[in-house]
Amino acid sequence: MSFQLEIVAWYLKNKRDLPWRNTTDPYVIWLSEIILQQTRVEQGLPYFNRFLAHFPDVSSFAAASEEQVLKLWQGLGYYSRGRNMLHTAKLVMSKYAGEFPTSYQELIALKGIGAYTAAAISSFSSNEKQAVVDGNVYRVLARYFGISHPINSNIGQKEFADLAKQLIADQEPAIYNQAIMEFGALQCKPKAPLCETCPLRLDCQAYQHQIVDQLPVKLKKVKVKKRYFNYFVGIANQQILTKQRTAGDVWQHLYDFPLIETDEELTTPSAEFFDKIKSIFGTEVKISLLDARKHILTHQIIYVQFFAIDNYIVNFNDYAEIKSVDIEDFKQLPHPKIIGDFIEKHID
Ligand code: ADE
Repeated sequence: MSFQLEIVAWYLKNKRDLPWRNTTDPYVIWLSEIILQQTRVEQGLPYFNRFLAHFPDVSSFAAASEEQVLKLWQGLGYYSRGRNMLHTAKLVMSKYAGEFPTSYQELIALKGIGAYTAAAISSFSSNEKQAVVDGNVYRVLARYFGISHPINSNIGQKEFADLAKQLIADQEPAIYNQAIMEFGALQCKPKAPLCETCPLRLDCQAYQHQIVDQLPVKLKKVKVKKRYFNYFVGIANQQILTKQRTAGDVWQHLYDFPLIETDEELTTPSAEFFDKIKSIFGTEVKISLLDARKHILTHQIIYVQFFAIDNYIVNFNDYAEIKSVDIEDFKQLPHPKIIGDFIEKHID
């Protein structure tokens, strides 16, 4: 039997009886699909029932107040979903005279509806041949067909979308889409999948090669690091303090100001921080905040504060990287953009 027929046969035997599966009303399906975005079925089910009891059709939803919608949404999280629904319900009233659209093209243009949700509503309500590709589908396809391209890479997304489209071609779209998602949710689970009772295991690439636990592959998002730069701008007798940035960090070899990096934003500087400042700029130094900026790089966000310093005497013996240069010469040096912007704004 083909993959698709196996999946559908499994579904007809094992499916849960869920209320949104007994209708082709696009409004009801929309309600369920938005609630089920980022929400488990068991958690979403009571919300679905409550929303449907309050708003049995799109016109009653469109007539609700935002407070009423958000109150009913309370506890579900991602509240923009509720606000977007109200916006969309009103638009369906004005643009479509209360007839909820069923075509993929019209659905995808609505607020809160992306490719997955448009495919789900159009296929479930009008049998449009649009393949759903959600986390369940990625997992089932990656394992069964042995696809190791990451599901969140460009090449992977194209491969999965093309395959999903090919697989749905000769199927009854509503049932097949429900079936593959249900199979992923109940049988081909992320953790401890039920391979030993799986009717697809003999043709499952991952099972045959014993790599079920390694698929699907997902690229780890690189964490954005937050950094806090505290710059000290010292100007006296037409001279300004500067230093050249070293290798192994951002802005290699460019010229900025004396800098103390901290783990957190300095709001009330600690005694330790003042000791450090005094060790560089002398015990009589006075500091005041001049400006604050945020600089976003690919893998880091740098929060920058500029402090003016007065009455300083630099300890050039211990801090040899700091130089005192003529302001006009300083302006000619290469700077990181955030320093260039500062110079333009604050230094004549
Ligand atoms: N999760 C998202 N859509 C679903 C659906 N139609 N049935 C079950 N789980 C779902």
